[in-house]
Amino acid sequence: MNSVILESASPGVAIVKISRPQALNALNTETLLELKEVLTKIAYDTSVRAVVLTGDGEKAFIAGADIAEMKDMTMAEGVRFSQLGHEATKLLELMPKPTIAAVNGFALGGGTELAIACDFIIASDKAVFGQPEVGLGIIPGFGGTLRLAKFVGYPRAKELIFSGRRVKAEEALRIGLANEIVPAANLMNRALEVAQDIASQSATAVAAAKRLLTEFSESVGLNFKLDSEAQSFGQLLGTADQREGMTAFIEKRKPAFVGKQGD
Ligand code: CAA
Repeated sequence: MNSVILESASPGVAIVKISRPQALNALNTETLLELKEVLTKIAYDTSVRAVVLTGDGEKAFIAGADIAEMKDMTMAEGVRFSQLGHEATKLLELMPKPTIAAVNGFALGGGTELAIACDFIIASDKAVFGQPEVGLGIIPGFGGTLRLAKFVGYPRAKELIFSGRRVKAEEALRIGLANEIVPAANLMNRALEVAQDIASQSATAVAAAKRLLTEFSESVGLNFKLDSEAQSFGQLLGTADQREGMTAFIEKRKPAFVGKQGD
């Protein structure tokens, strides 16, 4: 594994750490494939009873999907990339054991989307959330158009996705995105404490509770809805605004968008 680290914390708690420090843990295809492999292994490992997902280093949880990789994608590649993100997030959301996001810094775009695919979020006081995709000429593509509203409600999810603005830790707590905020230095201790508390309960009962709370009835339409997101995400790849938005990020300048509604 190049960019996903699996550690075990006693007893019964696994730590999954995204580690691409050179790109603030941004998710490229390789990282997503590795993450899927690790999460699949954990899902079937009965010795693991709770999972903590975090980012390597002090600055970022995950700074989003990899913009350098997405920049020149075709529409079909965009759909596939979005679907890969869906496969990873569904593993977090649907595995029969609790997943906790320990958000230690920037959680932008795909970073927020991985955090909200977990059962709940514990964030450091340095955490920064957001869905900045519209500023890149795209939309959230790893489930954000479905899952953000579950945490913050539809009006706020719309405001955040339409504006792309960042949400600092205190606001994240206030709007229900994060369950708890702790000083950065205590984040992992606190996340592990919560995970260990859960791991000491009946694994069968916790799995049943997760299944009901995740509402499998609701997930009947999940694949259809996620596929719809993947198609919309893919359709924005290759547009003038997407090329401009991502080129501007890489060239460290503001984008000059030309697209109009209805294009
Ligand atoms: N993809 C690729 N590389 C990224 C990245 C990303 N999402 N985020 C950061 N990096 C890279 C930067 O390009 C930079 O690389 P170089 O040193 O080679 O120039 C390095 O990580 C450090 O980043 P910055 O110099 O930008 O660090 P900063 O402290 O000035 O800013 C930041 C930090 C605010 C997180 C800024 O990096 C940023 O805005 N990143 C992009 C956030 C973003 O837009 N995420 C959404 C991506 S789209 C998405 O996720 C779509 C989806 O739903 C599928």
